[in-house]
Amino acid sequence: MQKILFATSEVYPLIKTGGLADVAASLPRALLKLGQDVKILLPAYASVMQKLTSGVKEVAQLQIEGRIVSIKQTRLPGSRVTVLLVDIPEFSVRDGNPYCGPDGSDWFDNHSRFYLFAKAAELIALDEAQLDWRPTIVHCNDWQTGLISALLSLHPERPATVFTIHNLAYRGLFSYQAFAELNLPPIFWHHERLEFYGQLSFMKGGLAFADYITTVSPSYAAEIQRPEFGCGLDGLMRYRNETLAGILNGIDMDEWNPGNDAHITVNYNRRTLGNKVKNKVALQADLGLTVDEKIPLLGFVGRLVDQKGIDLILAQMPQLLATPCQLVILGSGFPHYEAALQKIAAENPAWVSVTLGYNESFAHRIEASSDMFLMPSIFEPCGLNQLYSLRYGTLPIVHAVGGLRDTVFEQQGDEPSDQANGFVFEHPTPAFLFAAIERAIAAYKNPLLWKQLQLNAMSKDFSWDVSAQKYLAIYDKLLQ
Ligand code: ADP
Ligand code: GLC
Repeated sequence: MQKILFATSEVYPLIKTGGLADVAASLPRALLKLGQDVKILLPAYASVMQKLTSGVKEVAQLQIEGRIVSIKQTRLPGSRVTVLLVDIPEFSVRDGNPYCGPDGSDWFDNHSRFYLFAKAAELIALDEAQLDWRPTIVHCNDWQTGLISALLSLHPERPATVFTIHNLAYRGLFSYQAFAELNLPPIFWHHERLEFYGQLSFMKGGLAFADYITTVSPSYAAEIQRPEFGCGLDGLMRYRNETLAGILNGIDMDEWNPGNDAHITVNYNRRTLGNKVKNKVALQADLGLTVDEKIPLLGFVGRLVDQKGIDLILAQMPQLLATPCQLVILGSGFPHYEAALQKIAAENPAWVSVTLGYNESFAHRIEASSDMFLMPSIFEPCGLNQLYSLRYGTLPIVHAVGGLRDTVFEQQGDEPSDQANGFVFEHPTPAFLFAAIERAIAAYKNPLLWKQLQLNAMSKDFSWDVSAQKYLAIYDKLLQ
């Protein structure tokens, strides 16, 4: 049995800005199911502490940089997984997002807050927190946890470290001044360690020092070794090739289950697929769209940022509206995307609905109600929304990249296939996206074919069972 300290800056349902939170909730649970001893390490954000009204106790006090840092313990709601919370005022007395303030700009002290988080992880990993628990593996996720592997590398007797890249584009970059403010050994300022073209990169702490690197799909693992997707780190990724694996994310099959989802209007499964359309009609009515079950409804849920291909959606909008089909969008992000989408919705109220903000329940409704799900991401390490869509019989329209390429397959020719479950375009241009939408609409007009594609999508197993085993195999290999 492995003892795993799973360090993350987000975990659902306590705090979530994206897919990392979903993975940080469901992978540890899957590992627990496989008989492993897992504890999640999370910053004690104000909003997290507000949600945890009972069942939180202090389990340790650490001396870090001349201050006392309290470690609290609780359970991940709805599970048996232990969560350790690093309680410093830089996390616990601030409202808003884990990474940025209410005005949307990064917290001024992200380098020192996540440095202190890493120091706490280091002490817990070395069993210097009087928890009487010495992990065999420290599993870190994304740049916020990057310094943990670097700090642990300084100790000859230490647990093995695994670093998972959820998104290489967020490299955790800070100035040299920030490096100088932290109590890191000067030898770390080197291009083979934390230095990145004159800046400090927290991500490089994981990439240069972890014993093993994983990322969240096999295709993304290959892509980040190429300059187009490597964000300047492709050389390092090629160098680490022997200790780099792509393991596809799973999903929480209970949380995302159209058969008993409490957020949706009418539940359905493969046998009662005919009920799915009732969700669509109810959503059309609620959003003031033309109510007609025959109009194809396209859904989008996600961060409104360049990565997600919002440009492509905007650029082919006139053709899309002429098709005709309806579009329901939920998201938040860059103000120029928010404004452009809102304008289109205002001009086409019967056809386009745009909801800005973050709304977990509404995300479930869109997954259940849409016929097709748009995911024209420019790059996508794994992507979870296409997996949720598949489970809900909502066929994804995706750019062939990263985890989208690994999970969505389009039928080739007329031969029926039990693999085909969506629509895939090779080049991230508005024309290729629109052509894929046209193919999807043509298939939608053929009810027999459409139902087969939906059943293919819904039959696929995206549970964590297989992927959690792959992580376990890496942990075991590291300890041999
Ligand atoms: P990423 O992590 O790059 O944002 P993923 O597809 O892996 O992309 O995961 C996104 C997760 O965040 C999904 O669970 C999705 O439903 C959720 N999500 C994103 N934006 C919103 C939103 N505005 N409201 C509700 N859920 C959202
Ligand atoms: C990142 C990626 C996304 C992935 C998620 C969880 O946010 O952008 O593709 O699904 O992490 O691993």
